[in-house]
Amino acid sequence: MERIDAKALAARIKADAARQAEELRRQGVVPKLSVILVGEDPASEVYVRGKQRDCAECGIESELLRLPADTSEAALLAEIARRNADSGVHGILVQLPLPPQIDEQRVIEAISPEKDVDGFTPINVGRMLIGEDCFLPCTPAGCIELLRASGTPIAGKRAVVLGRSNIVGKPMALLLLRENATVTVCHSKTENLAKIASEADILVAAIGRDRFVGAGMVKDGATVIDVGINRGPDGKLHGDVDEAALATKAGWITPVPGGVGLMTRAMLMVNTIKAAQKGR
Ligand code: GUN
Repeated sequence: MERIDAKALAARIKADAARQAEELRRQGVVPKLSVILVGEDPASEVYVRGKQRDCAECGIESELLRLPADTSEAALLAEIARRNADSGVHGILVQLPLPPQIDEQRVIEAISPEKDVDGFTPINVGRMLIGEDCFLPCTPAGCIELLRASGTPIAGKRAVVLGRSNIVGKPMALLLLRENATVTVCHSKTENLAKIASEADILVAAIGRDRFVGAGMVKDGATVIDVGINRGPDGKLHGDVDEAALATKAGWITPVPGGVGLMTRAMLMVNTIKAAQKGR
């Protein structure tokens, strides 16, 4: 399989965001993203650092609020309310997961839909479902861009999504449907998952299981989007797809690391610029 060059695509998207940020600055608006990180989850630390680096590269101001792991839900909600009311903040991102004493859904729903650059609030999810203008969740939106960049036709094709999380699987299925694919969602209770996957023209793996997708689950010529990022027994990062096992197949695949993750970050820049353009 050939690798889709996510690095080049993410760079193009970020360069475009940087041009738009510059235009906003000329108009007197400094686009600003506020990130809230609760606790010290090591993966979250890495993600947040990446997001801040992207902001710096794109000319987007970023602020990071670090809160201790024992922060109360009320305290977090108060910080969100403050940023909702601050016209200088265009995007608000609360890094997930949150510690167990905090209700994740309640926190998401506290973010103003106009500043919800993750696209996680019910208003944005609903708008996406019915095809209205909204903030699209960054990872699935990035996967669509990867499909486009690889020249993979989507309309009329059979797309299979492995995983049904609110962050990736469910919105991914909706976006593929919006692009006129015929969409199947598989999950932990699915019977004959391998067979269903092997019939996909487009296979999106978002289940969080180290190299779960092997050669027998992939059609020759398929485009495979690997959303997983798992620490393997070898201590290295691997996707949900066993890329090495697919080497001799025809088709396209996204590498891990250096694939979907870069796109998630690039799409966050796109959403933050969009928020600043609307909010000015
Ligand atoms: N944790 C893992 N992925 C994400 C994401 O896209 N956004 C947020 N806020 N938290 C995450």
